[in-house]
Amino acid sequence: MAEPVVYLNGEFIPAQQATVSVFDRGFLFGDGVYEVIPAYGGRLFRLEHHLDRLQRSLDGLRIANPYTRAQWSSVLQALTQRAGSIDQSVYVQVTRGVAQMRTHAFTEAGSPTVFAMSSALGAVDPERRAQGVQTITHEDIRWHRCDLKTTAMVANVLLQQLAREAGAEETLLHRDGRIIEGASSNVFVVVQDVVVTPPPGPELLPGITRDLVLELARENGLPWREDEIPLRSLAKVSELWLTSGSREVMPVIAVDRQPIGDGVPGPVWRRVLALFQEFKRGAQAHG
Ligand SMILES: Cc1ncc(COP(=O)(O)O)c(C=O)c1O
Repeated sequence: MAEPVVYLNGEFIPAQQATVSVFDRGFLFGDGVYEVIPAYGGRLFRLEHHLDRLQRSLDGLRIANPYTRAQWSSVLQALTQRAGSIDQSVYVQVTRGVAQMRTHAFTEAGSPTVFAMSSALGAVDPERRAQGVQTITHEDIRWHRCDLKTTAMVANVLLQQLAREAGAEETLLHRDGRIIEGASSNVFVVVQDVVVTPPPGPELLPGITRDLVLELARENGLPWREDEIPLRSLAKVSELWLTSGSREVMPVIAVDRQPIGDGVPGPVWRRVLALFQEFKRGAQAHG
């Protein structure tokens, strides 16, 4: 198999040759931002939304965007085209670049490091999805700007590991008795036939999949609202789902081994998944 090619600072090069300085602030401080963009049938899915979120993350970290939209688009499309029409997950990272000295404070004049790579995006396992997944809960131990998609992810890493060790799919994070999101996903519940997800703000990532699910609910007349989800209310919700680029819309059947609703994926989820899949097919066909 041909060696994978990655993009680094203006060049497409074999992955083995892609190296970054040990003085890069991304390495020293996790001082950078990233995006993960699905590409279906060779087409980047919701690219504009991802580039908007990338811009907001860069602004939040006070890193000047090194590229115009057209430049981003052409780099990411060129990277995606190299892999052909298979479904892909495109990872993009921008760090503050190489430091002169290891000091926390930075100068605005630096030159960001830009890295992107594409890997095969495995399809969501249909059996697993039909069965639904288990989750656990944990206090949200992250910082107070989780709306920024930064590469400083050690809290998410540790929280996701807890799920892995418990044989669960995801860790649901709570703060002051409210469910915020998952370690790498957004959370939805169904309460009396209304789809509910926490409102956007500094506590959670505005997921591209989350926003699409709300858009589909709005366009198709499904009742929905952005509202707090008290941790204690989980015993009473009829459905719970996770959303993310790699999971799409995944039903959860238990939280901390307590069943959600009837302990099987619910009808509202089935409807939303069908809408999501239809939207995805349309995007693949028409871009
Ligand atoms: C903390 C967190 N929340 C939510 C999401 C879902 O975002 P998206 O739908 O853009 O994949 C992710 C994705 O990785 C995440 O890391």
